[in-house]
Amino acid sequence: MASSEGLQIRQLHDSYVCEVAGLDLSKPLSDATFNRIQDALHQYGVVVIPRANLPDDKAHVEFSRRFGEVEKSKYRSPHMRPLPYAEIFDISNLDEKGEVVTNSNEKRITAIRGNSLWHADGSFNPRRTYVSMLRAVELPPASTGGPTEYADARQAYEDLPEETKARIKDLVAVHSFLHNRQTANPDSPLFKGRSVYDEPLARYRLVTIHEPSGRPMLYVTSYAHHIEGMPVEEGQKLLRELTEHITQPKYVFTHEWQNKGDAVIWDNTAVLHRATPGSYEGKYVRDMRRTCVMDSGKGAYGLNSPEDAKNQRNSS
Ligand SMILES: [Fe+2]
Repeated sequence: MASSEGLQIRQLHDSYVCEVAGLDLSKPLSDATFNRIQDALHQYGVVVIPRANLPDDKAHVEFSRRFGEVEKSKYRSPHMRPLPYAEIFDISNLDEKGEVVTNSNEKRITAIRGNSLWHADGSFNPRRTYVSMLRAVELPPASTGGPTEYADARQAYEDLPEETKARIKDLVAVHSFLHNRQTANPDSPLFKGRSVYDEPLARYRLVTIHEPSGRPMLYVTSYAHHIEGMPVEEGQKLLRELTEHITQPKYVFTHEWQNKGDAVIWDNTAVLHRATPGSYEGKYVRDMRRTCVMDSGKGAYGLNSPEDAKNQRNSS
């Protein structure tokens, strides 16, 4: 059993993100070691585990369960591979036949574009996502792109001018899955002509408290469509300004995927993230798989009804 003493934790960015070395997730993990990883996650927001060595999807799901209730996919698109575990989300660039998707695959390409906008997984749902864990099963050749980027939404809040903090203190953002997809794909017939007001919406305060650390975060994602009680355009301007603030280079960490078996865990109630494009697209296999753990904290449902969360869609 790996002892927690064998772990080496190294900070990778001035304000957040750490790398844990000496962790082999193919072996049973003591509670003490797990607690150290979870504490690191809460402190640093993002935990990079090079060569995590999760042997398969089952081990990925079982490790994720130690963080809480793992989300199960209620619906698997017929345009995706039929992976055996409902808890594993397919973040690959492969279609249902295991072939690399191309620009002609509208359904898949629009989703990939949506994920390349800054977001927290599941912010469009009445019950939001706490932890996401992404593992590299197959990577394209080095230097063909596809890093995952993170932004430190707690430090970004802390650095805001006091008058901005006072101005946004009680504001509530209204989140919509459709809004992200429309923004990322303005010309796609899949989303044209649809109104966010006809589809599910979720309400969260702009400033939420990251409970394990007690630090406030800016819960401002590309799913946020408008601010409650504000004219839509004015709210969208504020959302844009805050997004620009959070995603300044000084708050961004770029994770370059290097080896098969590498994994990254992040806390969606502390950081934002986005996928980035690369020259591998349309050419090389990039097989990434993700689990999501539902938030069970006080802020899990934001200002939404737990009743609405029963039928919520898959995280994205
Ligand atoms: Fe995501």
